[in-house]
Amino acid sequence: LQHLLTIEGLPKAHILHILDTASSFVSIGDREVKKVPLMRGKSVFNLFFENSTRTRTTFEIASKRLSADVINLNIAASSSSKGESLLDTIDNLSAMHADMFVVRHAQSGAPYLIAKHLNDTMQPHVHVVNAGDGRHAHPTQGLLDMYTIRHYKKDFSNLTVAIVGDILHSRVARSDIHALTTLGVPEVRAIGPRTLLPSGLEQMGVRVFTDINKGLKDVDVIIMLRLQNERMSGALLPSAQEFFKSYGLTTERLALAKPDAIVMHPGPMNRGVEIESAVADGTQAVILPQVTFGIAVRMAVMSILAGN
Ligand code: CP
Repeated sequence: LQHLLTIEGLPKAHILHILDTASSFVSIGDREVKKVPLMRGKSVFNLFFENSTRTRTTFEIASKRLSADVINLNIAASSSSKGESLLDTIDNLSAMHADMFVVRHAQSGAPYLIAKHLNDTMQPHVHVVNAGDGRHAHPTQGLLDMYTIRHYKKDFSNLTVAIVGDILHSRVARSDIHALTTLGVPEVRAIGPRTLLPSGLEQMGVRVFTDINKGLKDVDVIIMLRLQNERMSGALLPSAQEFFKSYGLTTERLALAKPDAIVMHPGPMNRGVEIESAVADGTQAVILPQVTFGIAVRMAVMSILAGN
């Protein structure tokens, strides 16, 4: 692998290799990740053209645990705001001997453009990791979600996984669906209002439900998604109260799932919109462990791309 741009098309063996490598970074008995010298002397540039709390910070921690130098470009204070093109910015950072770009961008395809440019300009030693592009893909979130599911459920081959909410605008949903189907999860469900469900889900092997009470029946894993208001036009946007009433995960609705079902959320969470606080803070929620696992998973991705 030179770049990680999407989970779509990534073979099962590659996904499992990333999850196994991530496990190798975690000490037995706890979730602490040790510092290793696998990327000593390498420079990782975090280019977040869109806001982030979890992804940017865990990439920074992961880079430091791999002993890389990490540079967080402050996009608002960079020359992008003076009209410099994305690829000119990349060329200038490459001239500073960047080894890896971690890119988040509101435009679907922006990390692909950078990867193509690096290939066209004969820089095969420079790697790109997609940290979320528009509504298209968020591969490291998909991988950390798979790590979390494997951690709690051990085996993918007998699970029913429900993804609930604004699936239309969700890059996480797309990456999760590709990962879950590649890993052989027998039943992946998408639950949401018609207006927030993309076409083509059935062709991806997903069972579609508009009734959350039917969709949650006997599931092992629930992945909740927020309303991605920033990617919606006014006409599509349901009111928060309306959405919570129809699709919010409440204690009563959670009881429809298997008693040992886990509740996941990529964050940021909107309490009282897609999830009730009692569920978000309850014993079945694994939302904060997801964040912690993201460090080891991002270490695995970066160290594999760097050739380890
Ligand atoms: N899950 C996720 O991408 O969160 P951030 O937007 O905070 O990075």
